Amino acid sequence: MGKKIVVVGSSNTDMIIKIDRIPRPGETVIGGRFSTAPGGKGANQAVAAARAGGDVAFIARVGNDMFGSEALKGFAADEINIDHVTKDTTAPSGVASIFVDKNGENSIAVASGANANLSPADIEAAEKTIACADILVMQLETPIETVTAAAMMAHADGVKVILNPAPAQPLTDDLLKTVSILTPNESEAELLTGIGVENEDGARKAAEALLAKGVATVMVTLGENGVIIATADGVKKVDAFEVDPVDTTAAGDVFNGALAVAIAEGSRLEKAVLFANAAAAMSVTKLGAQPSAPTRHEIDEFMKNH
Ligand code: RIB
Repeated sequence: MGKKIVVVGSSNTDMIIKIDRIPRPGETVIGGRFSTAPGGKGANQAVAAARAGGDVAFIARVGNDMFGSEALKGFAADEINIDHVTKDTTAPSGVASIFVDKNGENSIAVASGANANLSPADIEAAEKTIACADILVMQLETPIETVTAAAMMAHADGVKVILNPAPAQPLTDDLLKTVSILTPNESEAELLTGIGVENEDGARKAAEALLAKGVATVMVTLGENGVIIATADGVKKVDAFEVDPVDTTAAGDVFNGALAVAIAEGSRLEKAVLFANAAAAMSVTKLGAQPSAPTRHEIDEFMKNH
């Protein structure tokens, strides 16, 4: 059995249009190709962690509808424990509308639906599952009071917390103090600190500011420019793998899911980031969020060959 990873977060169905370029407000662009895929930052992280070798439990809400049922089937296929995924009868399943352009860049709008109803009571109900975890992984597509309740619970139980602050929003110092590893991208690091992250130097400064707020380790993800790792012992950089991007959607989610597994297995920070970078790089070469998350075997093979 793999290490125990608990993910608290969102589940969506992604409506994807792959198109030459993303329309501007008021503009219609034709010539796109439509597809659907399971997504949601939380679910993507759960699936990525399960495929990377974790024994994963997911805590979430889906609607009592076809999208919710399909999502549950997908989790079961990835052997994810869904004892704490509730079918909400008052809201539809979350949906995301995604444009992906010819360079693999995306723009995403989310209708949260049932994700917005994930509550601190849902966290209380999963207390035993969280207490037994090696790592708790979260993002910010569910209410902040729920994220905070889970982080406080895990911290009190001595469970490491990985928080991916996406989509970005201001966070209290009390929450940040519970976080073992915070994984913002450039814009998230900038929003959390007010420090411009246009380059590596800005990323280092922002990471140091977050350390000063009480986060144990900060990893600023810089896409194709790699990852800055900052701890009390100093700052290091791990390069990204070079790939031809098809769709960058969920690259961050796959990074966080794979990172959780590597950290739970006892990898040192740089080695864990290398593993997570490999998983993220592979995900960028395929269209769709969960369809792009690689298996452990695929990640190991990729690392051997690069
Ligand atoms: O991070 C990518 C995800 O963001 C998509 O799967 C979409 O559902 C949104 O949650």
